Amino acid sequence: MSKTHDGAERTAHRRLLAWIDEMAALCDPDRVYWCDGSQQEYDRLCDEMVASGAFIRLNPEIRPNSFLARSHPSDVARVEDRTFICSRREEDAGPTNNWKDPREMKEILRGEFKGCMKGRTLYVIPFSMGPIGSPIAHIGVQITDSPYVVLNQRIMTRMGQAVLETLGEDGEFIPCLHSVGAPRLLGEPDVPWPCAPNISDKYIAHFPETREIWSFGSGYGGNALLGKKCLALRIASVMARDEGWLAEHMLILGVENPEHKKMYVTAAFPSACGKTNFAMLIPPKGFEGWKVTTVGDDIAWIKPNPADGKFYAINPEAGFFGVAPGTNVESNPNAMATLYANCIFTNCALTDDGDVWWEGLTKEPPDHLIDWKGHDWTPGSGTPAAHPNARFTAPAAQCPCIDPEWENPQGVPISAFLFGGRVSHHFPLAFQSYNWEHGVYMAATMGSEATAAAIGQAGMRRDPMAMLPFCGYNMADYWRHWLRIGRKMVATPPRIFRVNWFRRDEHGRFIWPGYGENMRILKWVVDRCNHCGAAIESPLGWVPGYDAICWSGIDYSRSDFAAITNITIETARQETNDQEELFTRFGDHLPREMEIERELQLARLYHSPEVWDLSAAAQTG
Ligand code: OXD
Ligand code: MN
Repeated sequence: MSKTHDGAERTAHRRLLAWIDEMAALCDPDRVYWCDGSQQEYDRLCDEMVASGAFIRLNPEIRPNSFLARSHPSDVARVEDRTFICSRREEDAGPTNNWKDPREMKEILRGEFKGCMKGRTLYVIPFSMGPIGSPIAHIGVQITDSPYVVLNQRIMTRMGQAVLETLGEDGEFIPCLHSVGAPRLLGEPDVPWPCAPNISDKYIAHFPETREIWSFGSGYGGNALLGKKCLALRIASVMARDEGWLAEHMLILGVENPEHKKMYVTAAFPSACGKTNFAMLIPPKGFEGWKVTTVGDDIAWIKPNPADGKFYAINPEAGFFGVAPGTNVESNPNAMATLYANCIFTNCALTDDGDVWWEGLTKEPPDHLIDWKGHDWTPGSGTPAAHPNARFTAPAAQCPCIDPEWENPQGVPISAFLFGGRVSHHFPLAFQSYNWEHGVYMAATMGSEATAAAIGQAGMRRDPMAMLPFCGYNMADYWRHWLRIGRKMVATPPRIFRVNWFRRDEHGRFIWPGYGENMRILKWVVDRCNHCGAAIESPLGWVPGYDAICWSGIDYSRSDFAAITNITIETARQETNDQEELFTRFGDHLPREMEIERELQLARLYHSPEVWDLSAAAQTG
């Protein structure tokens, strides 16, 4: 059945109009609505959500123009088990992705999508990932039956009519089809958070060859805001491979010294490793005159510029979809300031005066709250008041430390890539690769503890480049792409570093203060890129000596630093041996360089004493 709508007045893009008509006929919504992206539209949809009970308006005197949404308890995180890469050949998805034949998946999904929007509105969201018109940006069009998704997309992307203007009559766009998978039956009241309640009815499907995304059954986060993980990472990583650029799970920050010399670095950390905190770092005591500014907190699109041989990066997003629990004025004052107004909170607790609360926000919890499930809560309840994966959706422009160049369509030049995990107990606080190949190997073998999204996985898992859940093709081919791009495309590739903020002592206590103190390592990284930072050769890479780090404003002794830098050779050997298991999974796809680097590392370790001790090395080095 064809649905009338005003699409033809909004765009002359025939392919886009035909796709909307085809999907509307499949999903059978009551109406089709083209989002214009205006403030009036946003306000109207918020009012409708409040009226339907899907949003709670927060106290406007405390947090103006902000809302709380509570998801269905079954729909609280990305669902990796139900995320599929549907390339024609299974080996192109690789052993780390769930693969499904694209024809088979389309057939299943056509069945699921058939009539799935009955009783609902089909919203058309044209959006740009990156500043509109930037040569690094790309355009997507999302179809959704969730007004919650529309509102979040307006914060997370540049969306609406302006994107259609840029798309013109024949521009390229990535079609992103989404439904919560809960048709509304005639006469029945709607639920606040419609979704397909059974996990096996949820599908987050990517078709890399045809550059399409079909997502069914979930309204939450990366499952539903399709510009983010689905487009900007899984599909974009494939586009980047084919077109010679990088789509990475990385924050981007600027570091400026007191002489106003500025440098940009990107950093990849697995989910839940403090990426947003690092992106918004406040330099500690002793770093007066230094400034850290934020370009992005989650994703970087990086293209080589043939004119100067450098990589330039943009943040394809326009907002932060951050984890709320643990965020507070001490851990991240800049994030807290960003949240002052105009935000959507999901699965946070509600205070008696109409504000939001989450674990870690204040030292003492309030005496009474409404928890994320809508029930009365007191500190004695024994359950978390906010879901551990509760989120804020906040406009990036509200961040007090947003970088002045964050919307520069040309991007910002990148000098260093940092990679960090949570599992490398025996790995130094920071070290630099010997060269590009070695750096790619270091990044490929990083790992982290499981996150809420890694359902059913306990303990540690390897998370190459923090891209394990986000690489849209065979991970080993992705490493090959990294090797190629560093070697061929760029005259001066950025330096590559590994960091590990999470090393613990024998009592299990963190031995690095982290947060703002990470600035000390950032300064060493900057110094290394400026050819002025000292480093000592270790079996794993170049490590900073005690005197290479600026310790002003903190009491951190030589022996403390040695404890966080020393390498227990037996453990490092064991770790290097274990990497073989990762590599063998990829068979012929594994680039030779990866195994060569692993063997070189083993050889270095076999020629080292039992403990590679920084102070001893510094004396002889
Ligand atoms: C995220 C994630 O939500 O990485 O950013 O899981
Ligand atoms: Mn992320």
